[in-house]
Amino acid sequence: MTQRAELYRRLPRQEDDAWWLELARASPDGRVLELGAGTGRLTWALLAGGARVVAVDHDAAMLHALGDAHAGSDLEVVEADVAALPDGPRVGLVALPASLLNELPDAAARRSALAGAARRCRPEGRVALHLLSPWWLVGLSGTSSGRLLPADGTAPVEVTIEAGSFEPWTARRRATLTYAFADGAVLVDDLDAAVVTPGELDAAITAAGLELVAVYGSIPPAPIGPDDVAWHLLLKPADRPSSGASARRTRRA
Ligand SMILES: C[S@@+](CC[C@H](N)C(=O)[O-])C[C@H]1O[C@@H](n2cnc3c(N)ncnc32)[C@H](O)[C@@H]1O
Repeated sequence: MTQRAELYRRLPRQEDDAWWLELARASPDGRVLELGAGTGRLTWALLAGGARVVAVDHDAAMLHALGDAHAGSDLEVVEADVAALPDGPRVGLVALPASLLNELPDAAARRSALAGAARRCRPEGRVALHLLSPWWLVGLSGTSSGRLLPADGTAPVEVTIEAGSFEPWTARRRATLTYAFADGAVLVDDLDAAVVTPGELDAAITAAGLELVAVYGSIPPAPIGPDDVAWHLLLKPADRPSSGASARRTRRA
């Protein structure tokens, strides 16, 4: 197992889990397509909540840990790049959790990922995503610390963030995240995160044929604020005029 897979296998469930679970429960067909599922931090909760999950990731080591942990459950694991999502059945919820969009290499990959999510979403379904706040990423400096408060009440994990370089042209922030677990284990993750601005998101959402339903801050349903570390977006397939309506408009024109 790689160090990253080991880290994500150990990381606790997150504070925004309740929001994802509520969305999965509202999925019209009880199915979730989870992009960037990693070792299954969220997948586990979705499966336990009764969802049928297709988990996609491009990291074979991550998926291996996920598949091993959930053998026999209602889970399909797909090794793929989310920027070139394979065709497949449409589902009621397409989830892009845990800063997946920030990890993608450029705006074109982010557009492709959102377009793929839209293609795989049922007309009455939802696409939901988590991303790191662009303003938090830009403003990150020096050394800061925080703690992950697991949703299941287990011991918190102390996190130290050391800001690295900020590359203005590619708009990427590097940082080193050190996670100290209650049992003494210390694991490190290198962050290389794109600053994804609201303007870029708006354009990519529209180009994908999606529309914004709501924007929340770090822990939905709290509203978005200037100090939020993360944002959550809820999207749906854009309403298209029925062919009858467009024919009527054409005749009037
Ligand atoms: C921050 S980790 C989060 C993993 C998991 N969702 C969690 O919360 O533990 C982001 C995940 O996205 C995956 N990822 C990044 N770029 C990807 C891509 N282009 N295609 C598929 N997966 C990708 C990484 O391998 C990693 O598992």
